[in-house]
Amino acid sequence: MKRTLGTCYYPEHWPEEIWEADARRMKDTGLTWVRIGEFAWSRLEPAQDDLKFDWLDRAIETLGQAGLKVVLGTPTATPPRWMIDKHPDMLAVDANGTPRKFGSRRHYCFSHEGYKAESDRIVKLIAERYGKNPYVGAWQTDNEYGCHDTTISYSDAARTAFRLWLEKRYATIEALNRSWGNVFWSMDYNSFNEIDLPNLTVTEPNPSHALAFRQFSSDQVAAFNIRQVDIIRAHSDAPVSHNYMGRITDFDHFNVGDDLDIATWDSYPLGFLEDRVGASAEHQKTYARQGDPDFQAFHHDLYRSVGKGRWWVMEQQPGPVNWAPFNPAPLPGMMRLWAWEAYAHGAEAVCYFRWRQAPFAQEQMHAGMLRPDNADAPALIEARQVADELHEAPEVSAPQAPVALIFDYDADFAWATQPHGAGLTYFQLVFDAYKALRKLGLSIDILRPETRDFSGYKIVAAPGMIYMPNDLKNALAEAEAEVVLGPRTAARNADMVIPVPLPPDMPGLDVTVSRVESLRPDMPLPLKGGGTFSGYREELAGSAETLLELEGGQAAAVSTGNLTYVGGWCDEIAWMRLFSQINNKVGLSTLDLQDGVRCRDTNGLRIWTNYGATPAETPAGRIEAAGVLFEKI
Ligand code: GAL
Repeated sequence: MKRTLGTCYYPEHWPEEIWEADARRMKDTGLTWVRIGEFAWSRLEPAQDDLKFDWLDRAIETLGQAGLKVVLGTPTATPPRWMIDKHPDMLAVDANGTPRKFGSRRHYCFSHEGYKAESDRIVKLIAERYGKNPYVGAWQTDNEYGCHDTTISYSDAARTAFRLWLEKRYATIEALNRSWGNVFWSMDYNSFNEIDLPNLTVTEPNPSHALAFRQFSSDQVAAFNIRQVDIIRAHSDAPVSHNYMGRITDFDHFNVGDDLDIATWDSYPLGFLEDRVGASAEHQKTYARQGDPDFQAFHHDLYRSVGKGRWWVMEQQPGPVNWAPFNPAPLPGMMRLWAWEAYAHGAEAVCYFRWRQAPFAQEQMHAGMLRPDNADAPALIEARQVADELHEAPEVSAPQAPVALIFDYDADFAWATQPHGAGLTYFQLVFDAYKALRKLGLSIDILRPETRDFSGYKIVAAPGMIYMPNDLKNALAEAEAEVVLGPRTAARNADMVIPVPLPPDMPGLDVTVSRVESLRPDMPLPLKGGGTFSGYREELAGSAETLLELEGGQAAAVSTGNLTYVGGWCDEIAWMRLFSQINNKVGLSTLDLQDGVRCRDTNGLRIWTNYGATPAETPAGRIEAAGVLFEKI
């Protein structure tokens, strides 16, 4: 497939006289795509029913005439000010019960019926008008669902909808009381209408209640999205996408992805390193101008799965951004490297955010491909280089990887509901395992938790899936792949209650977690032969063979047949030791890559990236700092 480039553009920010020159320059840079429209509601409808679409007609025409393809965004992330007077209760409400205000973006509650009708109305107007426009090559619903903590809202609308959701799930109040264990602390309810949202309780709410509310909130996002998708599809054959984010896990992206044609995501490697990667201060310093060497790759693999194979980077960091605690400039070469890394993982398109830096409003400190004075910024120069390279490049596609990692949003909700120890998150657990696999030079597919067919994989890892349905247990036990489970696998039932027999209760693996503990950061438990458990550890009983042992002699990881269970939170050395043992068993050849060097196999080509600030050696030869190396395989 031909890989492409693009950018994000806001015609409403610039005088109409310069649109044509902008469009020509985009084309000359080698861009194919231009995303527009996603925040333009106040200019499309400055007052209720006062529609002003003529400028958007001309913008699309100008961009299209220049040979660009438009990704048209629906503007529902930014409802205009007049709408708040019309629906004062459409604002999302935070955990303290305070409504969030107008004056930035994403100021709506996913459960508000009035707002959902407004969203339907504007999306219908746009889809009717541009659905058959030859220049509209793709759609984007809304913008970054969940950004700025907006998945969860404690509004009256959410409470009403949550009660209905619970009634549908449990049918009777007795069933809910029983499933949640509401006899505890006299929390029994007599009717669904008595159930409130789990905020502002004196101490923590029932974890079953809290988990259900997270699941409900996630479903509300999918329900909001599909309304837009259905309206667009009624008027257009162009593919529909949504732009997800890095490490935002509070709604189930797979569920939303089921209703989309393409998953896209917004990749800001330096911003993420500052506030989302969970790295040490030293690591942050080393990679301050490059980003974490695995964080982008993880999301590329995740969104390839969410998009059922079709995915893009919709927003690529173009230089320093404005929103992280610190916002350094990328090393020269990184904006090219990030694009090639995305293609190596199968991205169809990489679009730089944004075309021209805005001299006004919240993002004036955010670089663009052009400076505010219209001069080329470094991102434009690197994008042009990628465009030139794409002309020469062979086709790149992402074949099935030898290793699979299951990512389960529901497990993330459960860990967030009951971390058991400060700072323990499901995302970090899975990401740590991913990093170790990458360091061994392996290419990885991320699978959704509903997967039951694991054919073609040599290794399937599913760390931390707190609830694991029996049919998944059986499918894993019967898989030809080596399977790595734990910690906390199947530690709760679907209602967040400890099951008996005790976990993991895996067919074919005689191990029982007899006791669990969380560990202070200053009490890691060393393993014999290297590595530690830190943060969390389980005592394992049973007859399965021991693979790793704590220094005290207790079993740390055990195995029978194709199933391995690890009873604690591994550091990098521990994960690498465990995976190396399993790789040897299945005959996968591995590497031990130096810190910033990573590789990914595509059909016929191994693509190497060097996140390091100095050149490095790879088995395929020398790779420059912030460089990319192509090796035929
Ligand atoms: C994204 C968002 C864009 C822009 C960008 C800045 O989260 O979708 O609209 O705000 O961040 O880095």
